[in-house]
Amino acid sequence: MSRIIIIMGVSGSGKTSLGLALSQALQIPFLDADDFHPQENIDKMSQGLSLNDSDRAPWLLALNTLLQTHHKQEGAILACSALKESYRVTLSRKLPVEWILLKGDYDLIYNRMRARDHFMPAELLRSQFDTLEVPSYGLQLSATDSLETWKTTVVQQKNKKHFGIIGLGVMGKSLAFNTLSKGIPLAVYNRAIGNESTIVSDFLKETSTPLCDGYTSIKEFVNALHTPRKILLMVPAGQPVDAMINELTPLLTTNDIIIDAGNSHYVDTERRYKALKEQQLHFVGVGVSGGQEGALKGPSMMPGGDKTVIDSIWELKAIAAKVQGISCANYMGPDGAGHYVKMIHNGIEYAQMQLLAEVYDILKASDYSTAEVAALLEAWQKTGVKSYLLGIMPDILRKEENGTPLIDLIVDAASGKGTGVWSSKNALDYGMPATMIAAAVQARFSSSQRDLRISLAQQYGRPTTAQKVDVQMLFEAYSTASIVNHLQGLALIQAVSNNLNWHISLADVAQNWRAGCILKSELVARFALELAKNHEIEELPLIKAAFENDWDSLKQICKFGIDTNVPLPCFNAALTHLFAFTQAQSSANIIQAQRDYFGAHGYKRKDIDNDQLQHTNWTQQ
Ligand code: 6PG
Repeated sequence: MSRIIIIMGVSGSGKTSLGLALSQALQIPFLDADDFHPQENIDKMSQGLSLNDSDRAPWLLALNTLLQTHHKQEGAILACSALKESYRVTLSRKLPVEWILLKGDYDLIYNRMRARDHFMPAELLRSQFDTLEVPSYGLQLSATDSLETWKTTVVQQKNKKHFGIIGLGVMGKSLAFNTLSKGIPLAVYNRAIGNESTIVSDFLKETSTPLCDGYTSIKEFVNALHTPRKILLMVPAGQPVDAMINELTPLLTTNDIIIDAGNSHYVDTERRYKALKEQQLHFVGVGVSGGQEGALKGPSMMPGGDKTVIDSIWELKAIAAKVQGISCANYMGPDGAGHYVKMIHNGIEYAQMQLLAEVYDILKASDYSTAEVAALLEAWQKTGVKSYLLGIMPDILRKEENGTPLIDLIVDAASGKGTGVWSSKNALDYGMPATMIAAAVQARFSSSQRDLRISLAQQYGRPTTAQKVDVQMLFEAYSTASIVNHLQGLALIQAVSNNLNWHISLADVAQNWRAGCILKSELVARFALELAKNHEIEELPLIKAAFENDWDSLKQICKFGIDTNVPLPCFNAALTHLFAFTQAQSSANIIQAQRDYFGAHGYKRKDIDNDQLQHTNWTQQ
């Protein structure tokens, strides 16, 4: 893989000397950015005028194009002051840049320039120091060190790996294969205890590529990585993540990056982010969706943390799923925003799964055989409700063992790992109606009380009254309920983002969910396209259409459940949401009166135009 190294720093920091020395040592061309100024800039500078940002813009773009060409060949080393972050963003467009900052204090560099008879007005150097936005990524070399020390530090990186993965479970291993398939030099680590003793050696046998090194010693793994290190953790959420961080941090150096790609709770991510910042290390929480296949072929990735740090982890975009060449790895927001978005992704996933379970139950109550349900859902998959989850249903329903559908042998008690519950709790914490996610979570809880259900069914069970559902109605109800579910989830993200000042772009969220993830669907693609044009979610044409709809199908399906004794918590939650959000006069005046009656909590009056709470003595006539 060719290297693109950009050496940055103020004038006189030693960029050219280091660039030339590296060029010789690494055998890749050296470019001096000053040699590529357009004539207008040269003319301006020769009149003693300094360049402004708009003068620099075409020059930086041209340098980026030049570097892109070199990247396809043997690579390049560029010396460029690149004092501002915005310049570096342009320079590194579509490129895996290794940044090196030559860092020294003003007096040191000024005196060095004087000693070299290199005249530079003191104010000019001072203004460069004032302009310098020190990057929070990349390798920082001290100007007090010798050229030889700099050279050795960089050259030593030559054989080091660009990216590290810790944890070769099913997901970690798939991500590692994916990373290698993109030609990214990789180091992997897994502990070698108990039944994990041969995981690393087995993986290396399977991959057998010089691009990959494997380790069972964490110290050796860390030493095998390029600095600043980019280490992706794929270990179970919770305590194992903290344990791994504690093991790693004493071995790391300033600006190294730990990327947690598990299903961590976003509050834990915020805590870890802050703790590592204090140690001058970076922590990035990335929601990863798509299961084993996604991890292998390109998952949806939802990164959160410092934007500049995330931008420097170009490997994420390289391994993520793509839609028309665009990676589903948009930046989500600061702190725990990435894991937050993944959590709500899973909440929506819970409700979509539950809706499909309810569709199955309705069709079973209508006397459909399992094979007929499979055929019907397969036909739906050719329409606008097409989705990953709907698409796996025929496979699930057609799987047989000795002539029996496997689905009939599976215990009807659903478990979960937490993200659905966390999403529901989060909606409660922020006062947002994510009723479909809550209904789906609660449905899993009811299913899990299996012994009680069976016993109550024996005593009080109502037989399912046979009726034939209108499948067109069912299709339309499923379509409307799916829209309401996504609306609730996205509105929750919006509300929490506003509350925490995260500035999450729903368009970027939907774009990330277009491919690679469990939620990918035609519906998400429509959300992504519409959100890219309108920012207010209620203003989206597809949401307006859902509200304008007469909801007749959804009503008929909910009635079908009542008439046939089939519980339909998610369909009902969807319909109730539509009712509730189109009811100008709600019944909450009764609630307020009751609160005031027994607790003197106060209420606001429609006929008094201020926020003053009123209290009434309700028993005094
Ligand atoms: C994904 C999935 C994945 C996992 C869920 C399952 O996006 O790839 O959501 O993260 O399958 O954790 O969650 P439950 O075990 O809670 O159903």
